Amino acid sequence: MRNRTVYIKSFGCQMNKLDTALVGAALEEAGFCLTGSVKDADVVLINTCSVRQHAEDRVLSHLGRLKHLRKHRPEMVVGVIGCMAQRLGGQLLEHEAVDIVCGPAQIPQIADLIGQALDHRQKQIAVTERIRLPSPGGDVSLDSFELAHSLRVARLASREGIEEETARHDRRVACESAGRRYEGRTTNDVTPPGRAFVRVMRGCNYFCTYCIVPHVRGPEVCRPPEAVREQVKRLADEGVRQVTLLGQTVNSYKHRNGEKTYCLADLLDMTARVEGIEWVRFVTSYPADEFYEEIVRTMAAAPKVCRSLHMPAQSGSDRILRAMNRRYSAAHYLELIDRARAVVPDIAVAGDFIVGFPGETEEDFQATAELLRRARYRSCFVFKYSPRPGTSADRRLPDTVPDEIKQRRNVELLAIQERISAELNRAFLGRQVTVLVEGLSKKAHVNRADGENPPQLVGRTSTDHIVVFNGPVSLAGRFAQVRISRTAPLTLFGELSSDGR
Ligand code: 5AD
Ligand code: SF4
Repeated sequence: MRNRTVYIKSFGCQMNKLDTALVGAALEEAGFCLTGSVKDADVVLINTCSVRQHAEDRVLSHLGRLKHLRKHRPEMVVGVIGCMAQRLGGQLLEHEAVDIVCGPAQIPQIADLIGQALDHRQKQIAVTERIRLPSPGGDVSLDSFELAHSLRVARLASREGIEEETARHDRRVACESAGRRYEGRTTNDVTPPGRAFVRVMRGCNYFCTYCIVPHVRGPEVCRPPEAVREQVKRLADEGVRQVTLLGQTVNSYKHRNGEKTYCLADLLDMTARVEGIEWVRFVTSYPADEFYEEIVRTMAAAPKVCRSLHMPAQSGSDRILRAMNRRYSAAHYLELIDRARAVVPDIAVAGDFIVGFPGETEEDFQATAELLRRARYRSCFVFKYSPRPGTSADRRLPDTVPDEIKQRRNVELLAIQERISAELNRAFLGRQVTVLVEGLSKKAHVNRADGENPPQLVGRTSTDHIVVFNGPVSLAGRFAQVRISRTAPLTLFGELSSDGR
């Protein structure tokens, strides 16, 4: 019998991308073939995101298209996995196009669910009944799923058959409507060669009032440091050079072992010491004091820990921060950034903001704009508030800010950031930087006076700046030295001076 084919479409954050890649690897292991063509696939999986309504709407419109496709291909099996599967459960299963609904905690069962659906033509559902209760066996099956399949993900770095939608739609919309063309979108490959993502914790305990994550990903669960180290070692043996440690609030990582409490700083140090690992990153950080000093000091002491901190502020108005249940003030947030820069002067900070949170006045918005100016981010993402059913903001606060105002505030913040990024990037002119090369740039950039000059490679610096330059494709997954000759707000352009570090 020929192998069954699977097409996977992936929405959402880094955590989801990792799940998608693991599911792809697990299905290959189970004998399926990944295909890039949805029309010919025996199985179509959509890994979904619930963080904003817009992401869910796009999934629903895909399902609408699949419903039509199935008129010609009734035997095709369609599965919805991820946050939306957990949020909507049985309701999604009622959709005409859907055969399988599988929550984020159930992905280790995906091959069985598909097998059942293919063999018995019966709808399948696997979601967590009460997501905030600790799971009885811990997350053992999720842990072993990750350990078992992350090597295959690293081996087959770029994967035909997984299509990613960028999660940054709000930002692109804002840029386009402002009439700007942004350069510097990087490759969308699931895992560019030489890089791997390692989850160190799942879930979130913060309960920001706007956020769906704690309701669909459950409580914080940290993996033991030995499990993380073991995974990193195996990845390094496969040729991985850069590891990104993942968690919704990765800096709250905590693991008690007898007398000792391990924190993210310990994990960073441990990972940097693994032979073969050259760079270690971590995302995303919550602005909190706990372990902060340890983390920035570890960064200062360990050159392998990348000089990059993604620490969302969400707002610069203390009133709105309180309404969001964010546990810091604008002044405290800026102080945290100052403290990091005092210890690691070349650190580059990135942020996220939500505009148009219920009750956000012009004065609140101006406070956000002021914080953004003072933070001097490398870059930031701006999202329009989107009410999420089940969150406390949605229950208690009407969505009062009209969309035109959200849109205007979005564009305005991005315009301020663009000026700051342009200014900060100009300081790179003439400098030589070390980049880890991701691969071919998907976008054609005009990088020389005489026009386009492919192949153009894209890579990132330790500070997470995107660098585009001409060079051989064989550099993908390796380090290179690039001299910067031109800068744009989101991209540095340069010439290859040498490969290696
Ligand atoms: N509406 C808009 N943006 C949101 N985010 C999270 N929840 C919402 C929401 N309901 C944004 C936050 C977070 C990023 C991943 O998504 O800025 O940092
Ligand atoms: Fe959502 Fe807040 Fe948790 Fe981040 S810290 S995942 S915004 S609840």
